Amino acid sequence: MKSNEGNTKGIILAGGAGTRLHPLTKIISKQLLPIYDKPMIYYPLELLIDAGIKNILIITTEQDIDKFKNLLGDGKNWGVNLDYQIQKKPEGIAQALVISKEWINSSPLILILGDNLFFGEGFNQIILEALKENVGATIFCKEMPDPNRFGVIELDNQFKVLSIEEKPKNPKSNFVVTGLYIYDEFASENASTLSKSKRGEFEITDLNNIYLRDQTLNAILLDDRFEWLDTGTFDSLLEASTFVKNNK
Ligand code: TTP
Repeated sequence: MKSNEGNTKGIILAGGAGTRLHPLTKIISKQLLPIYDKPMIYYPLELLIDAGIKNILIITTEQDIDKFKNLLGDGKNWGVNLDYQIQKKPEGIAQALVISKEWINSSPLILILGDNLFFGEGFNQIILEALKENVGATIFCKEMPDPNRFGVIELDNQFKVLSIEEKPKNPKSNFVVTGLYIYDEFASENASTLSKSKRGEFEITDLNNIYLRDQTLNAILLDDRFEWLDTGTFDSLLEASTFVKNNK
């Protein structure tokens, strides 16, 4: 069954420990740090709003939830409904879909990591099309010079996904999975079947591999027209602010 854009819900994952940005993130969430003239969370939030998503859940830590509520409120200013939920420990991206099972309530879903920024003309159109066409799961991929820091995908010459490996020592390609995912209504159910990985997390790659096994994983390649910034390090944080300033 295809996802219907009308009832797709959105989740922004804004928890995590942010250890690579210490001491900046010792007392404040990474996703509240500035990217040029706005807090980081505004970027994924605006991406979901532009994609027509009306119900959005922000998942964050116990320490930060009130700050997000103070900043963003109930979403009325944006014409959307915002809800909030705590992830007690950063035990993996896929865990977000398990703890929000009741909120998701078997709706199709678009999930974005709160520290992932996407830019480029026409990107919104790509998302709208992907929401309309999604059967199973859709991931968005980018070619990177240092793929071993990410989930790496192996593609055949028809751009069909053959495998996804989380942070492999010997990456099979330079294509990596970005922090934006579209799922059908079975995402929570599928995520509930996962076990923790060796590094102690419920891995989003393992969830995507369930869809791959079922032959319902679609990959969309974002070419050079699109910029993807994962702002987890000092350099990428600065790069993102500079990018926004120069492209305003
Ligand atoms: P990461 O950058 O992998 O982790 P982190 O934010 O904790 O940072 P660090 O590695 O420096 O300690 O997380 C990617 C995004 O997903 C980020 O926006 C935080 C979010 N996240 C959660 O909300 N919960 C989690 O359990 C994990 C693993 C990540």
